[in-house]
Amino acid sequence: ESFGEKLYEGKAKIIYATDDPAVMLTYFKDDATAFNAQKKGQIVGKGQINCAISTYLFKQLEAAGIETHWLETTGDRTMRVKALQIIPLEVVVRNLAAGSLCKQTGLPLGQRLDPPLVEFYYKDDALGDPLLTGDRIRAMAIASEEQIATLRRLALRINQILTDFFMGCAITLVDFKLEFGLDTQQQILLGDEISPDTCRLWDQTTDDEAQRVLDKDRFRQDLGQVEAAYQRVLEKVAAQSAKN
Ligand code: C5P
Repeated sequence: ESFGEKLYEGKAKIIYATDDPAVMLTYFKDDATAFNAQKKGQIVGKGQINCAISTYLFKQLEAAGIETHWLETTGDRTMRVKALQIIPLEVVVRNLAAGSLCKQTGLPLGQRLDPPLVEFYYKDDALGDPLLTGDRIRAMAIASEEQIATLRRLALRINQILTDFFMGCAITLVDFKLEFGLDTQQQILLGDEISPDTCRLWDQTTDDEAQRVLDKDRFRQDLGQVEAAYQRVLEKVAAQSAKN
């Protein structure tokens, strides 16, 4: 495929323009960062793995009626996506307590959250991606009341679809982060990626707290075997996709 002008380089991906202004090309890098880029490293082969996993998961969501930016996966690290005006929010859904939720609330690791939590973080590196409230989102004019309600509804629906899908892989979807954007008709579409970089995934076949981790926490917490864990997720996701 042809790479046009580089539009944006993020921590894990590069976005290129294409001949068509309505289409962009996403390139998945091996670079990994954690703790607001204070920890940096590389996970060899991650780009291919995350591109493949994201492709499978976008296809699952599309099949279930969720509109995403994904159009076509054109190479082992590249996908063509619809150009979106990104909404500067990270929408996090949590089924079990982990990560920053445990740190900030004292809830024990693995505590079930029923109903699941939906949280909005401001996508701003300089501010350290702070947790927002609905009132703050309105005050900052990031999204309207109606758009916030739509984001919450979509996030919860995506959570149902992905939780069921990963259950078929014998993986628990602990939590994950989504990003959304607006198309030319002001419709809200799912953007970005869904991968072990953006989800917490626990292997249901072991209770061992370190061994069960199949996601970026292996990198964040220096648990080792990061590539192997990502590869394992890809194999399970591919096998489960072949079933339905
Ligand atoms: O760190 P925290 O517990 O808030 O993360 C919740 C979920 O969101 C995790 O699955 C994490 O991988 C994801 N996340 C992300 N990008 C961020 C922050 C969190 O993908 N900038």
